Amino acid sequence: MEKEVLSILDMRTNAPYDIPIENGAVRASDLRRMKAGPGDFGLMSYDPAFLNTASCQSAITFIDGDKGILRYRGYPIEQLAEKCTFLEVAYLILNGELPTELQLKNFVGAVTHHTMLHETTKTFLTGFRHDAHPMGMFISTVAALSTVYPDAKNVLDPEARKLQIQRLIGKVPTIAAYTYRHSLGYPYIYPDDDLSYTENFMNMLWKMVEPKYRANPVLARALDILFILHADHEQNCSANVMRAVGSSQADPFVCTAAAAAALSGPLHGGANEEVLKMLDEIGSKENVRGYVDKIKAGHGKLMGFGHRIYKNYDPRARIIKWAADQVFVATGRNPKLDIALELEKIALEDEYFIKRKLYPNVDFYSGIIYQALGFKPEMFTVLFAIPRTVGWLAQWQEMIQDPEQKIARPRQLYTGYDVREFVPIEQREVRATSATR
Ligand SMILES: CC(C)(COP(=O)(O)OP(=O)(O)OC[C@H]1O[C@@H](n2cnc3c(N)ncnc32)[C@H](O)[C@@H]1OP(=O)(O)O)[C@@H](O)C(=O)NCCC(=O)NCCS
Repeated sequence: MEKEVLSILDMRTNAPYDIPIENGAVRASDLRRMKAGPGDFGLMSYDPAFLNTASCQSAITFIDGDKGILRYRGYPIEQLAEKCTFLEVAYLILNGELPTELQLKNFVGAVTHHTMLHETTKTFLTGFRHDAHPMGMFISTVAALSTVYPDAKNVLDPEARKLQIQRLIGKVPTIAAYTYRHSLGYPYIYPDDDLSYTENFMNMLWKMVEPKYRANPVLARALDILFILHADHEQNCSANVMRAVGSSQADPFVCTAAAAAALSGPLHGGANEEVLKMLDEIGSKENVRGYVDKIKAGHGKLMGFGHRIYKNYDPRARIIKWAADQVFVATGRNPKLDIALELEKIALEDEYFIKRKLYPNVDFYSGIIYQALGFKPEMFTVLFAIPRTVGWLAQWQEMIQDPEQKIARPRQLYTGYDVREFVPIEQREVRATSATR
């Protein structure tokens, strides 16, 4: 096959360049050959917020935003959500292949073995204020694990990496459950090895004085499906943070904490919490149209709507809607659902949203399910962080193994002053500062 090439004529110098195209992309570093003159640094590409820049090659997750496709390692999300357990999907995402029965048994055993927290980590958690935001507690405690496992620094050792991955996947539900118990003032519950990953999480959340916690199987399955849907989403904001921090060879605990910090923002994982606040603010079905009009007039955004990648529909939103119906059979219908359905209906028929290709995303319905399960909105992003830890770790591992990757260090286009003469303090005048602009 003929090589694909991009031919460019640099009109500054009249010099022609042939830039190879590979996988539908040109290498930004090839642009550096194009210089305006001998002392020139060479051409750069400028792409704030990475709208059109691939930062890596990845074989983990495939998304076609226009067609509404999401696949992990080639398998459609719909099939995985229907047929697999979360840990089976976690194995697939991390290792590239679905596990055999024995491989799955060993993986589940290894993860289960690591669900306990060191007692000092438990004590660490008790130090937070009673009203501390669970996501702040989660991020800090995951980072604190770095101090418990100094061997995690051996990021170039595959065996050490495997151990930290098992530890992190095992421990994030425990940390998440303890942040919840902490906010309620309840004692922390030890993990129960007899239970599945999700059932054990529910055990650590909700066990009271009964000798053995028995999870409602419908709710446990719904939570497992939610975990599958949230496990990875290629190069989103938090995955990018995981790779960027990991590229300095920081240990995976602090990398995961950094990724979780990115997830906590309202434009990323924090959106499901914002959806519930928005539904509370709307209050009833009758107020939906007025609320949508306010958004169209430029007052805020419809939370849980829109996506950087999906411009057709978010396939996860469809599965979540189905899971919501299962949950409501067990818990009773969440009255917020009626407001959400009305909001979706009105928005999907409205020119403003149609023109901008704004559809409900994964966060639109997940919050309603979480609330029906008994979670306060503050917990929602933590529930997202548990499964996404798997995706972050897979992205991190792939980055470490990629010989092309180096420490992440973007360029900038400097737009500040040229060199200035220093002004002594007594001669300075008040000027508008860049921080207040
Ligand atoms: C997800 C999100 C950050 C993607 O942002 P993006 O790809 O940068 O899209 P843009 O901000 O360029 O939006 C394009 C247009 O749609 C509008 N828009 C985007 N999301 C919107 C929303 N949720 N409600 C109303 N308008 C929205 C923007 O105002 C912009 O309009 P304009 O062209 O008139 O300026 C954005 O849609 C958003 O903030 N959604 C709400 C938060 C959310 O649900 N996040 C969870 C993502 S899973």
